[in-house]
Amino acid sequence: MSILKIARLGHPILQKIASPVDNFKDPEIKKIINDMIDTLDDAGGIGLAAPQIHVSKRIVIFFVPEDRLENGKNKVELTIMINPKIEPKNDMMNRDWEACLSIPNLMGAVDRYSHIKYSWYDVDGEYFEREASGYHSRVVQHECDHLDGKLYPFQMLDLSLLGFQEEINSNKDLLDKGRSLPSEI
Ligand code: NI
Repeated sequence: MSILKIARLGHPILQKIASPVDNFKDPEIKKIINDMIDTLDDAGGIGLAAPQIHVSKRIVIFFVPEDRLENGKNKVELTIMINPKIEPKNDMMNRDWEACLSIPNLMGAVDRYSHIKYSWYDVDGEYFEREASGYHSRVVQHECDHLDGKLYPFQMLDLSLLGFQEEINSNKDLLDKGRSLPSEI
């Protein structure tokens, strides 16, 4: 288990479409996941996709912490997803701030589907499905975008809402364009 260097915006691996995992029994997969957990923990973020540790495979880990609770719901324990898929439940979108471990110190307001259904396989090849809304839905969309070579600024409809966290946090009018402060994902 190791703490790995996180690829930053501009590194080509972040813009590659990651390959699906086809052999769940490959011990390398467990090792990648353990390294992702260590790296995320060290970085203090709440989500990480394998391309961010320079591995172009469809693996994502994330959790939704207590302080992201909405109406008393939405806390999600650490979830390890292999070959995840997302389906929006309807067309409803919402705009909120995001930050990314691959784009240090910046934040941007991104429009995301408010309600999604998503599925994945765990490390034993077992299939799971879940529904998500609010911040939970946002994190899953941000992480799965990493598997398709997309970083959050690529999804922004208004680039005037991209900036350094330090600047935006001290500009209340701008900060109010999103609903909550970003976590690194
Ligand atoms: Ni990210």
